[in-house]
Amino acid sequence: MNELDNFSKKQTRRDFLNYILGIGFFGWLAAILYPLVLYLKPPKAPEVDVSNLKIGKVSEMENNSSKMFKFGNKQGILIRTQNGEFKALSATCTHLDCTVQYKKDEGLIWCACHNGRYDLNGKNISGPPPAPLTPYNITIQKDEIFVTK
Ligand code: FES
Repeated sequence: MNELDNFSKKQTRRDFLNYILGIGFFGWLAAILYPLVLYLKPPKAPEVDVSNLKIGKVSEMENNSSKMFKFGNKQGILIRTQNGEFKALSATCTHLDCTVQYKKDEGLIWCACHNGRYDLNGKNISGPPPAPLTPYNITIQKDEIFVTK
């Protein structure tokens, strides 16, 4: 009977020690993994809500030139055509989100990734882009150029 009690106490102590070691192990594992997961997970960038933006001066843009600008989190392109007209469009290609550019020698907007082409109104005219570029409204006050959605 006495030996049976000793055996029962040993089992209880052994179980208790295993329990404590198990908690310690999982605590150690969590202390290693939690900062690692936080490090690997990119932080969320807040969406910047911009609806009206000053992007340049009329006197600083020559005819047949372009200028890139940031509109919130999106890239935009301002184009002054050969006849002096201003166009502002989203600069994100509708195919696979590359950034488009103004091709002054051809007078159109070009995406270098897969040779996509848009006219100056943003309409997709050749290549893989499935949709037109989003146009922005332009307001000119004195010499300042403003873009609005
Ligand atoms: S990403 Fe622009 S044409 Fe493919």
